[in-house]
Amino acid sequence: MRRIAVVPGSFDPATLGHLDVIERAAGLFDELHVLVVHNPDKNALLPIAQRVSLLERAVAESGAGGNVVVASWSVGLLVDYCTDVGASVLVKGIRSQVDVAYETPMAIVNRNLAGVETIFMLPDPAHAHVSSSLVRQVAALGGDVAPYVPRAVAEFLQGSLR
Ligand code: PNS
Repeated sequence: MRRIAVVPGSFDPATLGHLDVIERAAGLFDELHVLVVHNPDKNALLPIAQRVSLLERAVAESGAGGNVVVASWSVGLLVDYCTDVGASVLVKGIRSQVDVAYETPMAIVNRNLAGVETIFMLPDPAHAHVSSSLVRQVAALGGDVAPYVPRAVAEFLQGSLR
């Protein structure tokens, strides 16, 4: 049986912390879906299609294998996507206790809804302080985001926001 997992998130934009988790999770599963999910609780900077395209470029330029699929999901439950593609595991990156508190209820609900388990992965500590919201703020104020994001994202932000 193929082991299929999903890494869901807003990825607005993808950071090096996200990419680190994606690369390492890709090594643990036969197929890894990186899923850009619309989060109505957040004011988005980038359209979903742009986030998908940047993630595709970042994954292609990374050490992740050819088993990574980038997709998006904006209607219905996240576990519905998991069921559609045969995934039984969600992978989430955890930087701190704040992330644990945020992710734990979702993990329990997703298991109750559809039996989908959540695995928490620790990103490299070098990326522990990096978040998409911090990157959005630095980019909007004209700072250099290159240390925090994949090359494709840095090039896009530098080209589009300046
Ligand atoms: O990167 P984010 O914004 O922290 O990701 C949060 C996300 C998109 C993974 C979360 O909001 C989510 O799982 N949304 C899907 C909606 C859903 O299925 N909700 C019910 C179970 S938690």
